[in-house]
Amino acid sequence: MTFAQQMENDVALVEDYLSHVFLSREPRADLYDAMQYSLLAGGKRLRPVLMLETGRMCGGDPAAILPFACAIEMLHTYSLIHDDLPSMDNDDLRRGRPTNHKVYGEATAILAGDALLTAAFETMLENGGDLPAQRVLAAAACLGKAAGARGMVGGQALDMAGEGHSLALSEVEELQRLKTGALISAACEMGCILAGGSAEDRAAVVKYAQKLGLAFQIRDDMLDVEGDAATLGKPIGSDAANEKTTFVTLKGLEQCQRMVEELTAQAEEALSGFAGRAFLCWLAGSLVARKH
Ligand code: IPE
Ligand code: IPE
Ligand code: MG
Ligand code: MG
Ligand code: MG
Repeated sequence: MTFAQQMENDVALVEDYLSHVFLSREPRADLYDAMQYSLLAGGKRLRPVLMLETGRMCGGDPAAILPFACAIEMLHTYSLIHDDLPSMDNDDLRRGRPTNHKVYGEATAILAGDALLTAAFETMLENGGDLPAQRVLAAAACLGKAAGARGMVGGQALDMAGEGHSLALSEVEELQRLKTGALISAACEMGCILAGGSAEDRAAVVKYAQKLGLAFQIRDDMLDVEGDAATLGKPIGSDAANEKTTFVTLKGLEQCQRMVEELTAQAEEALSGFAGRAFLCWLAGSLVARKH
């Protein structure tokens, strides 16, 4: 099996789980439609794949980790729905479709985000299966920390506060570490926790994820300038329209690409102690020149 096929298999497992998870629920106006609209609109499924594969590398069973991998994707999807709202980035296109609020209205989009966030924790805490309860709790705590004011939401707050101001590189790095890095880091850390990895393993996978997360956001900032909306599935020029300071405004496209390459090499290096690191190294490399 090639790495690309392995990735496709992981994504298929995630798609299948996500497409069934809310099906038997009693309708609540158009809330579930709005949740599924964004959740099942494609997306790279990077965070779930990172969790499944970090878990596998650390000796865990991907089948047991799957509900947790889907939970982080629910939470990530909520963050995108809210990120696109008129009061935030005010974008009209996401995952190749009109944004959630464009279709369902702002109130339902906010509620769909709230419900996906909550469903993430429900999914984890109800589907621990035979995993030791301590691992389930530690994984849920890890996601809670990464998602909230100490993580993604905190980063979004800094991102919004920074609009219209020029930020220093250290400020943009801190903002990205929280808004994007925290969830990517949690994906890997949770995989390791659920697999019963050691503290040393945990530190190594977190280092990998931090380097990868930074490279990922630098590339995201680049694509906002040089990308193509049809390929990207989201608008370009959103950062400039919102007067954001990004890695591109500070460093320029060429230097950004060099940073992405260096960080990717550092990410791969962080996994040097793992015999089963090949897939995660390939995955990091595959993101260096990503177009979406
Ligand atoms: C977009 O995340 C938001 C950022 C944190 C940069 P992704 O690029 O992973 O978006 P999807 O999930 O593939 O749509
Ligand atoms: C948002 O970053 C990261 C989130 C927490 C959702 P961006 O605002 O750069 O993400 P895109 O470019 O809209 O996907
Ligand atoms: Mg944003
Ligand atoms: Mg945005
Ligand atoms: Mg962006």
